[in-house]
Amino acid sequence: MLVNSNELLKSALKDNYAIPAYNINNLEWTRYILEACEEDKSPVILAVSESAADYMGGYKVIYSLVKSLLDGLNISIPVVLHLDHGKSFEACKKAIDAGFTSVMIDASSKPFEENIGETIKVVKYASNRGISIEAEIGSLNKEDSNDNNTSIYSTPDEAKDFVFQTNVNSLAPAIGNKHGLYKGEPKLDYELLGSICKSVKIPLVLHGASGLDENKIKTAIFCGISKININTDIQLAWAEKVKNYIASNPEEYDPRKIISSGKNAIKKVVHEKNRLFDSVNRAN
Ligand code: G3H
Ligand code: ZN
Repeated sequence: MLVNSNELLKSALKDNYAIPAYNINNLEWTRYILEACEEDKSPVILAVSESAADYMGGYKVIYSLVKSLLDGLNISIPVVLHLDHGKSFEACKKAIDAGFTSVMIDASSKPFEENIGETIKVVKYASNRGISIEAEIGSLNKEDSNDNNTSIYSTPDEAKDFVFQTNVNSLAPAIGNKHGLYKGEPKLDYELLGSICKSVKIPLVLHGASGLDENKIKTAIFCGISKININTDIQLAWAEKVKNYIASNPEEYDPRKIISSGKNAIKKVVHEKNRLFDSVNRAN
């Protein structure tokens, strides 16, 4: 069943667990994630970046693909179809018009007031259509030439002000997290996270959660994270298996065999994350 993320994230916040958001790249990726989450009876957010939407042929293609897989595979868990890091109102509108049930407007690279302005535009369009809205403040992914983290961390006051002015349903703060591979030991500011959680009282989202160990994830959930985004960990697991398969089967050219050689690796990561986030058996 396709739903927005509002009730799922509220329950997760109340009961101290997190809803997984996995990025999808193609038919197989989507299928394996859905199968693993169905086996776990875990709700799931299928996250689609703008570049993944381009790659797959647009938002309408993805909506039809996901709807058809839900029917074809008899998926009974709640599934959210979510635009990840939508950079503009136009991108969010396109996804919503195509049938997405949730969007992230990420105008965090703009000055704070402009981020607020762009987010309000999306909230106005999305909220009376029953679409959940996530936004981001601060900046992730910044490192100087010595690999020092130079990200702009979010503050509890700006988070409160942002949520008050925009009325978003969930918020992704910058607390030392980073997309992709961390160089060295990831250092998340849990005290800051806890203060932001107290000041906004809405579900918080952890981006860049690949590479974070069990203890870090559990602490983040304890401090108020209700949605956790995973992309790189799945890509790494899939790529390793497929590279090995190709190396051991150099004569193989059937794409179904090559792509699906990474199936179990994807499902294994999803099962592990679902257990770690404690989203298993939360489908009802
Ligand atoms: O929006 C997607 C993510 O934040 C995923 O980050 O690739 O580090 O897991 P990751
Ligand atoms: Zn992200």
